Amino acid sequence: MGKDVIVACDFSSAQAVYGFLDKFQGEKKPFVKIGMELYYAEGPQIVRQIKARGHKIFLDLKLHDIPNTVKKAMAVLSGLDVDICNLHAAGTTAMMQAALEGLTRPDGTRPLLIAVTQLTSTDQQSMERDLLIHEPMDQVVLHYAETAKAAGLDGVVCSPLEAGKVHERCGAGFLTVTPGVRFAEGDKGDQKRVMTPAQAKQAGSDYIVVGRPITAAADPVAAYVRCVEEFVD
Ligand code: C5P
Repeated sequence: MGKDVIVACDFSSAQAVYGFLDKFQGEKKPFVKIGMELYYAEGPQIVRQIKARGHKIFLDLKLHDIPNTVKKAMAVLSGLDVDICNLHAAGTTAMMQAALEGLTRPDGTRPLLIAVTQLTSTDQQSMERDLLIHEPMDQVVLHYAETAKAAGLDGVVCSPLEAGKVHERCGAGFLTVTPGVRFAEGDKGDQKRVMTPAQAKQAGSDYIVVGRPITAAADPVAAYVRCVEEFVD
């Protein structure tokens, strides 16, 4: 898979997400991210239905549990035929390896598996105070990325600001999937460290995850096309 724009479909019902996706008639079908909100509201059926409409899917459920539980859960997700799924690198190497085993189908194929390093909502202070991790944040993120790579994963979710360093440390083929993208003149909302799609391209992101700049735009299709033009073309 080459560079692409993944649209974060953070809606709370099937009706709302179809109302959004129906606008893309005649356009390239966007790569869609389904997160916890939509998945917990509508269940696995929403994944099957969006897949049946011809969209690629990043199922963003961020698994984190004991290895055996994650392995079994991943086997179920693999049956949903998603393209990318994810977990927390904090679950350790054993959990990441078990996840890969669970995800791999009898014919050897599997969805891509990427790891969340530290959430972008976690800052240095809360990491030190609550998690008792005292290394600098960028070192922690790079260490988690290396651990994920060593476990056999395909990439990480990170800020576009970290994409270059992750590639340096883990290789150009190790995927960086980066939220925190805004148009130059756009509202940042609750995202703090942001880049434009063009800057993310420059920084080496493989996939940008874009939510509100597309879903809340007056013309979502135009906003999506602009993202693709800036990031992919
Ligand atoms: O609307 P916005 O473009 O901020 O959406 C970004 C999406 O990426 C949301 O679904 C958010 O949950 C997700 N995400 C993020 N930062 C992370 C991991 C995921 O913004 N570190």
